[in-house]
Amino acid sequence: MKNKIRLGILGGGGDSLIGIVHRIASSMHDSYEIIGGVFNPDFSENLKFAEEIGLKKNRIYEDYEKMINEELKLDENERIQAVSILTPNFLHYPMAKKLLENNFNVICEKPMTTTYGEAKDLEKIYKSRNLTFAVTYTYTGYPMIRQMKEMIKSGEIGDIQRVDLQYYQGWINPIIHDSKKRSETWRLQPDKSGISCCIGDIGTHAFDMLEYVTGMEVEELLSDLNYVYDDNIMDVDGTILIRFSDKIKGVIRASQIATGEENNFTVAIYGKKGGLKWEQQNPNYLYYLSESNPLRILKPGHDYNSNFAKISTKLPPGHPEGMFDSMANIYYGVAREINGTIEFDGEYPSLNDGLRGMMFIEKAVESHKKGNIWVKLN
Ligand SMILES: NC(=O)c1ccc[n+]([C@@H]2O[C@H](COP(=O)([O-])OP(=O)(O)OC[C@H]3O[C@@H](n4cnc5c(N)ncnc54)[C@H](O)[C@@H]3O)[C@@H](O)[C@H]2O)c1
Repeated sequence: MKNKIRLGILGGGGDSLIGIVHRIASSMHDSYEIIGGVFNPDFSENLKFAEEIGLKKNRIYEDYEKMINEELKLDENERIQAVSILTPNFLHYPMAKKLLENNFNVICEKPMTTTYGEAKDLEKIYKSRNLTFAVTYTYTGYPMIRQMKEMIKSGEIGDIQRVDLQYYQGWINPIIHDSKKRSETWRLQPDKSGISCCIGDIGTHAFDMLEYVTGMEVEELLSDLNYVYDDNIMDVDGTILIRFSDKIKGVIRASQIATGEENNFTVAIYGKKGGLKWEQQNPNYLYYLSESNPLRILKPGHDYNSNFAKISTKLPPGHPEGMFDSMANIYYGVAREINGTIEFDGEYPSLNDGLRGMMFIEKAVESHKKGNIWVKLN
């Protein structure tokens, strides 16, 4: 029987949104075993939750520092090998830093840190180690996104000339218009969330996706953000013009006040020969547009897909897979990296993707605050 990677988890307790996605995703390719961690800052809640999900209490710790110190005392064959960081944003950096310094592989939620400076610091430590570091830009794990990436790479739509990414949610609408609720959510508090709410939370998914599918780096941007109330210092909406060059341009539109929207993330890339469009809420359909053919719809599991899309699908055509599967493909990529069997570019989002994401957030806020001016990303 193959050895599963021993996984620790920080955050992601029973009270969290993203915890269950990581727990299920990590188990989907039979590559990980959850050993322990710190699911909640309150130790009794932490123990209670660990018991609920069937973990032994002896590997549940009061805090991440204790976890690292105690795990280091164990034999290497028993010790946790990789740790997922699923806490509010401000804890990502101190946790990831200490984990890297003590030679643990890291799977970190986005945004990777709360500042670009912190992200650079992590990069420095990472470069001095032989470790794997992933940032869970979840949507890059979808098979039809990977198909889009491969089709763009092989020139099927020709040179890119226009990009349009929209990420619309409405969940913050009832919170932003209520001064009490607005002061309570951690996502609107800079000390917990970083300098941006909407752009940091979902704009960064769109930015990463753009660079992921095109394989190109954005050169400059101009942003116009909306804070809605004068006493609110965190954006909840933004429109960002993007330039890869003076001939390749487009837009990222992100909002948490698009009233009634759920998780409406769409990606559209247009080349000289054709276009590709994908919608997160209908993720098994990739729309292939061209001037010479009627609209074609590509779906997962078929032989016509690229090998990268094919390894990202577990079932035959017509068996829909979704967000859990997409996250599972990222976990699988990390496992293949750790086990030395990785094959494709983009099997998991890297530390560099996390770093670029932090640069994007800071530059988007800077552009807005300086009066909606163009700013360079490098
Ligand atoms: N990849 C995605 O699509 C996606 C989706 C949602 C959230 N996220 C990211 O995941 C992270 C968590 O978001 P969420 O919505 O699940 O947050 P949440 O507030 O719902 O849950 C946070 C969890 O962290 C725990 N926690 C807080 N402080 C802790 C500490 N000191 N030690 C251990 N655990 C602690 C809380 O008890 C809770 O279980 C954020 O960085 C967010 O941006 C990513």
